[in-house]
Amino acid sequence: MSEKQKWIDSYLAIRAYSEEICRPLETEDYVVQPIGDVSPPKWHLGHTTWFFETFILLPHLPNYQQFDADYNFVFNSYYETIGARVIRTDRGNLSRPSVADIYRYRKCVDKYMIEFVDGGFLTNDLLDIFVLGLNHEQQHQELLLTDIKYILGHNPLFPAYGSTKAAISYTAAESAYVKFDAGIYEIGYEGRGFCFDNEKSRHKVYLNDFEIASDLVTNKEYMAFMEAGGYADFRYWHAEGWDWVKRHQARAPLYWHLMDGKWMNYSLAGLMEIDHEDAVCHVNFYEASAFAAWRGMRLPTEAEWEVAADYVNWGQRWEWTNSAYLPYPGFKKEAGAVGEYNGKFMVNQMVLRGASIATPKDHSRKTYRNFFQTALQWQFTGIRLAR
Ligand code: AVJ
Ligand code: FE
Repeated sequence: MSEKQKWIDSYLAIRAYSEEICRPLETEDYVVQPIGDVSPPKWHLGHTTWFFETFILLPHLPNYQQFDADYNFVFNSYYETIGARVIRTDRGNLSRPSVADIYRYRKCVDKYMIEFVDGGFLTNDLLDIFVLGLNHEQQHQELLLTDIKYILGHNPLFPAYGSTKAAISYTAAESAYVKFDAGIYEIGYEGRGFCFDNEKSRHKVYLNDFEIASDLVTNKEYMAFMEAGGYADFRYWHAEGWDWVKRHQARAPLYWHLMDGKWMNYSLAGLMEIDHEDAVCHVNFYEASAFAAWRGMRLPTEAEWEVAADYVNWGQRWEWTNSAYLPYPGFKKEAGAVGEYNGKFMVNQMVLRGASIATPKDHSRKTYRNFFQTALQWQFTGIRLAR
């Protein structure tokens, strides 16, 4: 297969998967934004398309006929370099462009992207931004699933999304603890494949002796924390976490509902009884930390996690680490708009490691650094203990 055909095939496969994720939706599901953190599915479909249009077609394809110049305002997420945009919390107020318009926009950009690769415009210089566009769309595929779950799971009728992949639960094994000796280790991406800028550079870290759980914390274990009064005892919580508990009267992970004395859980397959063996999901950093404190343990640091990754089971949940999201030594912000991709978010967020049931296949690796603010529960997040 030619190099060109290989890129066209990966492009089309990734583009098609975003649309496949949306296939079970009704038109109305595409539009709403129940909270600021959740984007309407149609916005994800438009924004990922805008990324290819803005960073590849407009600057690098001479005969590109822009689908609609006004879309720049609607689908620019956060790039100051690119300019003015609709504020994030207003994404759900846009009844236009319509869902049908956005599918037409995707078709148009896809047609030109194929022309771009086929016509020999994908030079080595442009390969990085092209591959970033592919990985960017994959990140949004996970966000699509998390946002769809939030939209449907906060509808009082609790409609099911479907019985597909991400709806399937995962049975965590009984944890054993894997031991590591103190010493100097190396973390960070090294190799010739794709990685995000925040995974570089590979560098040395010193770790003290530590032990890390081979598996994730289960619902049964988390329920024990709830039943022991974990949400009523300030001693387990960060000050900010305790404020969060009181403000939201929190007493369980997101999507848990106490109904007729029984804890129910909204999953993508609908409302069902808690599966006690499943890995706990949809906890924020405060809850993960409080649970660990109650057990007399702690969360692993991101360096511990990466060093241990080949020896533990991971890939079902994003795992909160005890590491702030900061630049690695040697981190370089790229020039231009893509320099805004990751670097400017390196404040007030924690690193999550692993991957979840919503992460597209082959999208994660042991050096991948996900990041979110401490109060957020809507991602497929879980807990791994360390000591
Ligand atoms: C890495 C998941 C935190 O949600 O903003 C999407 C992914 N970056 N478009 C995010 C991302 C640019 C990012 N996270
Ligand atoms: Fe994005």
